[in-house]
Amino acid sequence: MAGRMSRRSAMKVGAAGALAGMSGCAGTAGGLGAAGQAHKGKAPKAVAAGAKIRVGMIGLGGRGRGAHLASLLKIPDVEVVAICDPSQDSIKKALDMMKDRKKPDVYDKGDLDYKRMLERDDIHAVTQATPCNWHAQMFIDTMVAGKHHYAEKPLGIAVKELDDCCATAKANPKLIVTMGFQWMYNPRFIEAVERTQAGEIGDLVECRIARHNGASPLMGWFSHRKTCGDWMLEQACHEFNVVNWITKGHPLKAFAIGRRDIWTSKDPGRNVTDFYSAVLEYPNHVVMNYSHDWHSVGGLCGMDLKFVGSKGGMDIFGGNFWQRGKKDADPIKAPGVNDTQEAFNTWVKCIKEGKQPLASPEYGRLASQLGLMLRKSIDENGKVVTYEEMLKTC
Ligand SMILES: NC(=O)c1ccc[n+]([C@@H]2O[C@H](COP(=O)([O-])OP(=O)(O)OC[C@H]3O[C@@H](n4cnc5c(N)ncnc54)[C@H](O)[C@@H]3O)[C@@H](O)[C@H]2O)c1
Repeated sequence: MAGRMSRRSAMKVGAAGALAGMSGCAGTAGGLGAAGQAHKGKAPKAVAAGAKIRVGMIGLGGRGRGAHLASLLKIPDVEVVAICDPSQDSIKKALDMMKDRKKPDVYDKGDLDYKRMLERDDIHAVTQATPCNWHAQMFIDTMVAGKHHYAEKPLGIAVKELDDCCATAKANPKLIVTMGFQWMYNPRFIEAVERTQAGEIGDLVECRIARHNGASPLMGWFSHRKTCGDWMLEQACHEFNVVNWITKGHPLKAFAIGRRDIWTSKDPGRNVTDFYSAVLEYPNHVVMNYSHDWHSVGGLCGMDLKFVGSKGGMDIFGGNFWQRGKKDADPIKAPGVNDTQEAFNTWVKCIKEGKQPLASPEYGRLASQLGLMLRKSIDENGKVVTYEEMLKTC
């Protein structure tokens, strides 16, 4: 990607280059926080030529079944040999999906039973789709056990968790890891990012981003900051990751204001921010405006990933690039795909080829760091929070 940027045409990116040239965790961690505690893991078990990749799955809820299991079942080179979830309902639904396959071993004896599954040395790779408070611990335990990992976002919900995960991934470079940032495997997103980085809209000025959720908000573990981190970590990390991917770096400062009382009468004890509005400043005066809510209705629901530059603009969901002075848009040409399936296909291919996929833990760390900046600012009634302050306090 970076190789395609000529000096003359390349967009002046907003960032300090924290992610520049990075593929996998082997890249620089400059500016992204402390080194973190690295946990050295076992060597990965080699996949014999012609053999299937044996996968164990942690978390078989909505995402674990509907996206992870559904995708893995479509990959001929994969065998799901073990599933782990303390919920009998989730296990039963997953087994139903696998009725015509060899029955996987079941680990359902509570929250820590995943560790028993990780002890097996006949499992090559492990997926995770659990509430966010488990992510970092499961990431590190999976690496220590010497398994390749498909880790749902967010990577973690505290600075130290993020640093420790990245340090651990860096200490185990033979373990193939991807974050569940499936947009990074979507050809339409890849084209949009590459054309923007190549300078098609000129120097980036504004990132105009929004996610307006309608209907009733997700409840259960999603309602609590302790288990979900709050929406700017659990959900907005996808959008933040696209901005980080384009700009290859991090904001200097941010502020946000929001409300945590919108659904509390229906969901007592709920303490997540169901509406907030944020402004983030990147180097070179690049600004991100972000609006995120769970109170939209009807036609107010939807998402925006729009970017305005000195020469034009780009709208990922709308599928268009525009140049100033030209009437017609120049569409994004790549075809639409099931990006989660594409993410799993790529992860499996990378395991076979011993290469790290694009959606590295470093991207996971940076996206969560943005969420932490905004959450801190909302906690402090819209105070401007610098990147360094977030690193020291979140
Ligand atoms: N990449 C995406 O677009 C995307 C989309 C949706 C959800 N997600 C992520 O997937 C994860 C799961 O979300 P979901 O919607 O499936 O939630 P869910 O509540 O439907 O499922 C979570 C499952 O994890 C299980 N679980 C909880 N603790 C566990 C433990 N210690 N060991 C094993 N299993 C455990 C629960 O019993 C449940 O079955 C979340 O992190 C969420 O952010 C990602």
